[in-house]
Amino acid sequence: MFHYEPKDLAVPEVYKLLVGGVAPRPIALVSTVSEDGSNNLSPFSFFNTFGSNPPMVAFSPTRRGQDASFKDTYSNLLATKECVVQVVTFSLVGQVNLASTEYTVDIDEFVKSGLTPINSDLVKPKRVKESPFQMECKLVDMKSYGEGGSAANIAICEVLKFHISEDVFTNGIIDPRKIDLVSRMSGSFYCRANGESLFELPRPQTENNIGYSQLPDFIKKSVIFTANNLAEFALVERIPEQSEVEEFINKISNEELVDVELSENDFFKYLEESKYNSMMKMVIQFAKNKHPQTKKFIELTAKCALENNDRDFAWKAASYELNFHK
Ligand SMILES: Cc1cc2nc3c(=O)[nH]c(=O)nc-3n(C[C@H](O)[C@H](O)[C@H](O)COP(=O)(O)O)c2cc1C
Repeated sequence: MFHYEPKDLAVPEVYKLLVGGVAPRPIALVSTVSEDGSNNLSPFSFFNTFGSNPPMVAFSPTRRGQDASFKDTYSNLLATKECVVQVVTFSLVGQVNLASTEYTVDIDEFVKSGLTPINSDLVKPKRVKESPFQMECKLVDMKSYGEGGSAANIAICEVLKFHISEDVFTNGIIDPRKIDLVSRMSGSFYCRANGESLFELPRPQTENNIGYSQLPDFIKKSVIFTANNLAEFALVERIPEQSEVEEFINKISNEELVDVELSENDFFKYLEESKYNSMMKMVIQFAKNKHPQTKKFIELTAKCALENNDRDFAWKAASYELNFHK
C-alpha cells in the first residue's frame, strides 16, 4: 500500500488520487443563469443525492485550479439561487464534454454544445431537452472549504420538480439499460453503465441471516467459491439439514438421466449454459464412479446455482460434499 497525508502532496496529486479512487462518479449537467439573464451550462462529477424527503442533491463547482477564481456556475448560483440539474447519458457525453470548455461568462454553452434549451416550470434556468432526467432546483446552502485553487464549493440544492422521460421506465423503475448513464473515472476515463457492466444484488431480506462467521469450513476453504459466493451463501437463515440434502439428492437421482455419455466435456457444456440441474445429475454419477474431481464438480455446480440466484439449490448441492463419499 502507498500511504499519504494530503499536506505532503501537491494539490494536482491529491486531485488525481481522489478522482481515481472516488469513482465512478455520476455527472450533473447544471444549467444556471447569471444576474443579467445569460445561460450557463456545465458538467460536474463531484455530485450526488443525499436524501429524498425533501429530495436533496449537491455538487461542487470548485475554484479554478490555475488562479483560484470562481467558476461561472458558482457565481450564478450565489446570485440567483436556482439551477436545473440533469443527468448525462451516453448519447450526450460528447456535447457535455464540449460544454465543459472554460468559455467566458458571456458565452452560452447551450449554443456552443448544440444542446437544446427548453423552459423550466418553476425556475429561470433552462432545461436540457436531450437529457431524460431533469431536476429543477433551488439553492439551499453553499458550503466552501479552502481558499486556493481546486478548493471545494458545495452547492446544496433542493429539487422542486422532476421531469423524466417515460421511455426510461420498466415496471415503474428507471431501467439502467434504458437510461444508459455515464459516469466519470480518473484521467479522461468514463464508464458506461450498461450491458455487461450491470448486475443485480438484492439487499439482505432478513437480519437473521447466518452471516460469514457461521459458514462451515468446507464452504469457506473452497478454492472454487469466490468471496462474493461466500457472502451469498451467508444470506440464508439456516443451513439445510442432512435429511433435506438426502431428499434433494434422491429427487435428482430419480429424475431421468442426462442422455449424454458422462464426460467432463458435457459437464462444462452444461456449466456454460448454466444448466446446474443437469450438472448435479452428472455430479451424482461422478460420485458413484468415484471420480477424483467430484469435490470440484460439486462446487462448480453449487457456484453455478448461486450465480443463477438459486441459493437453496446451491446450499444443498454444496452440502453433498459432506455426503458423497459415504
Ligand atoms: C465530465 C466532467 C465533470 C466535471 N466535473 C467537475 C466538478 O465536479 N467540479 C468542477 O469544478 N469542475 C468540473 N468539471 C469542469 C467544469 O465543467 C469546467 O470547469 C466548466 O468550464 C465550468 O464552467 P463554468 O465556469 O461555466 O461554471 C468537469 C468537466 C467534465 C467534462
